[in-house]
Amino acid sequence: MKSKYTADRKMPGAFEGETVTRRNFMNVVAQGSGMVAVAAIALPALGFAIGPIFKSLPWSWQPIGTPSDFSETAYSTKVVQIVPDVGEVGNSIAYVRSRNPAIDTEPETKWNHWVALSSRCMHLGCPVRYVEAAERFICPCHGGVYDFLGEVVGGPPVRPLDRFYTRFNPANGLVELGPRYSVNDQLQAFSPRDPAQPLNGIGQYLYPRRFSTAEGPAGY
Ligand code: FES
Repeated sequence: MKSKYTADRKMPGAFEGETVTRRNFMNVVAQGSGMVAVAAIALPALGFAIGPIFKSLPWSWQPIGTPSDFSETAYSTKVVQIVPDVGEVGNSIAYVRSRNPAIDTEPETKWNHWVALSSRCMHLGCPVRYVEAAERFICPCHGGVYDFLGEVVGGPPVRPLDRFYTRFNPANGLVELGPRYSVNDQLQAFSPRDPAQPLNGIGQYLYPRRFSTAEGPAGY
């Protein structure tokens, strides 16, 4: 039968009277203390780093003009805030017009009386520019082209331009712009996705919404 003393077993660092059980116990205590110390430093840092991934960005309705500022046949360019509390880098451009029942055939809701297109290209995110004479949105990076509705008519973008919710606020008499949402080729609304993520067919399941993107008023 094996001795219970570490000295008898000639274990490294053994001293008189030390048992194997005591050594194992001290090992567990030392390693446990080390793990607690590491966790005390690492967990807050980890939480700080990945916490925002699971937290939706806050958003608010932004006034962008009176109803008479917008026509059905031309887009107005509006500077809008898409990331709060980061200054001008959080701003972007939205192209806004009144809904035109003759061409806007997607179901009308209380959030789309004004059509507000995001200027972020759905290939890799470059800013697109509206060319009024051609009634096209052109991306300077890789030649993406979108028609008047924001649907892709040329180049590599994988889906139509994203949109923003809009509403009329009777309290101030202004048109207001809400958070961004994405659309598929039928202009059906989805929660906001990133550029290069197609939404047709299985794409909507392959590329789910990031937790950090703001959920819209319609709950998408
Ligand atoms: S980023 Fe617009 S076409 Fe590539």
